[in-house]
Amino acid sequence: MSVRPAADPDVAGIVLVEHACFPDPWGVDSIRGELAEPTRVPLVAERDGQVVAWAVALVSGDVADLLRIGVLPAARRTGVAGELLTAVTIASATRGAERMLLEVAEDNAAARAFYAGAGFAEIHRRRDYYSGGSDALVLARDLA
Ligand SMILES: CC(C)(COP(=O)(O)OP(=O)(O)OC[C@H]1O[C@@H](n2cnc3c(N)ncnc32)[C@H](O)[C@@H]1OP(=O)(O)O)[C@@H](O)C(=O)NCCC(=O)NCCS
Repeated sequence: MSVRPAADPDVAGIVLVEHACFPDPWGVDSIRGELAEPTRVPLVAERDGQVVAWAVALVSGDVADLLRIGVLPAARRTGVAGELLTAVTIASATRGAERMLLEVAEDNAAARAFYAGAGFAEIHRRRDYYSGGSDALVLARDLA
């Protein structure tokens, strides 16, 4: 498996990841916009020539917001998200970020376990944030 910066030819693969991972998947135009936006750090994980995961962070000053991280179901629990997160934190730190923030739904047990294992801690709760009524937890981790 390789982790590398996402580029235009990856958009179709990223769309598949989005639909497999998120209730509000981003479409082609949104993803192209992310890839073109200089403040973003977009990465894909590729296995056997197929995009199996992607992540994107927004770096603004000394803070990086992790906007997305998703892995195709068939590729989960094999360390893909861990590798992507390591790569996105390194790339964000290289751009000057000292801290990473993200939002996760309280009922997303897999993601919460993943982030806890990666050293993120809850700093805030947004009540009834998601359309289904669940709270959003804001997590943070220093990148130093
Ligand atoms: C959360 C997600 C990105 C994890 O991806 P992954 O590639 O399976 O994660 P990894 O294999 O790197 O897992 C690393 C560790 O995280 C924890 N973890 C990951 N998935 C877990 C699960 N379903 N249940 C419990 N712990 C889990 C484990 O500690 C795991 O280590 P282990 O497999 O040695 O036990 C993936 O489940 C996903 O794409 N979910 C849908 C999209 C999503 O919710 N994204 C986050 C939005 S905030």
